[in-house]
Amino acid sequence: MNKKVISLELANSSNKGFTTNNKSIYYPNSIREVTDSDVKKALSDKESKYYTYKGKKWEVGIPGANGTGGKERDYGSQLFETQFAIALCKLVEYEQEQISLVYGLPATSIYNESIIKSINKLCGKYEVYEGIRKRTFTVEKIKVLAQPIGTLFSLVYDINGNLRKGLDPRKKYLIIDIGWGTTDLVEVSLTSGLGEMDTLNEAMSDYNRQLLNLVDMKYPDKNVRNLYKQLYDFDNDLREYSSLNVRGGQIHVSNIQDEIKQVNHEFAKRIYDRLNANGWDFSSYNNIILTGGGCKKLEKTIKQVFPKQYGNDILLVDDPVLANPKGFYIFGRKHFRI
Ligand SMILES: Nc1ncnc2c1ncn2[C@@H]1O[C@H](COP(=O)(O)OP(=O)(O)OP(=O)(O)O)[C@@H](O)[C@H]1O
Ligand SMILES: [Mg+2]
Repeated sequence: MNKKVISLELANSSNKGFTTNNKSIYYPNSIREVTDSDVKKALSDKESKYYTYKGKKWEVGIPGANGTGGKERDYGSQLFETQFAIALCKLVEYEQEQISLVYGLPATSIYNESIIKSINKLCGKYEVYEGIRKRTFTVEKIKVLAQPIGTLFSLVYDINGNLRKGLDPRKKYLIIDIGWGTTDLVEVSLTSGLGEMDTLNEAMSDYNRQLLNLVDMKYPDKNVRNLYKQLYDFDNDLREYSSLNVRGGQIHVSNIQDEIKQVNHEFAKRIYDRLNANGWDFSSYNNIILTGGGCKKLEKTIKQVFPKQYGNDILLVDDPVLANPKGFYIFGRKHFRI
């Protein structure tokens, strides 16, 4: 029998996971039920993959969709179970694997007994078809952790669980996690666990909306707003291709530097103001840790906007998008001794 640790985080915009051999998943958190004729079409298309779970067929990770996740998600629902089963199916490799799972919840949900109970109920045997290929696996144990604990593990340990130089998990860290839907501010140390926490309902979806509006105002004849109805596509084109496809050609990222600077600056300032207004004591943290996909973009500006004396203490975690699942995997191998 194959035993392994898998980590999973089904977040606002995306589903993320990590397991042995550096295998990871990261895809939009969107799902829709499909019909037999959709599936027939898909058989001629190598890129498409449909999943079958409990007799129903599903398409997941639909590009361009902004995700069906969100803070209000129902962890006890059949839909959540389906998303859970499909995400795991993407991470198993062999028949009948036995999974010890670490699941990452937003810090603000971690004291919610009914959510933890719902997630623990997901233990059991699964049968999922990926296309026509059957996968069976068993979730034997589940440990639920708060997302910033994942970042902390990613920061202080390497992927083999060895301590990295100069970082002490017992010290107190301030984690700033900029995602798609929310920005989470959490104080954490391994000895005292989670401390103060706060959530801003402003993150990369808002960032992209603001930037899109500014670009649209700068180029009123380029039809930008209509061409980018999905903010995720706007974000993706700027990140992957450094340009936007608009009426009459392209807008290169170098043409909108002022707009990007403005949005970066305003967003970083709001994060700082929020921390400041709530009286967070920056000097009590060993480091301020930046994580989540948004921090890749905001790192430089945050370092400029936050008081200069903390400049050297602000660190961007490795691989900010997958830092949580990687950290949970490291935790899981220690915790489950696998
Ligand atoms: N491959 C990538 N490399 C770098 N940044 C990326 C990549 N893919 C997505 N991003 C950025 O990550 C951002 C989303 O962050 P993240 O994946 O941490 O959100 P999330 O965890 O799904 O959302 P939330 O935390 O709100 O639930 C996007 O705005 C995008 O700019
Ligand atoms: Mg996140």
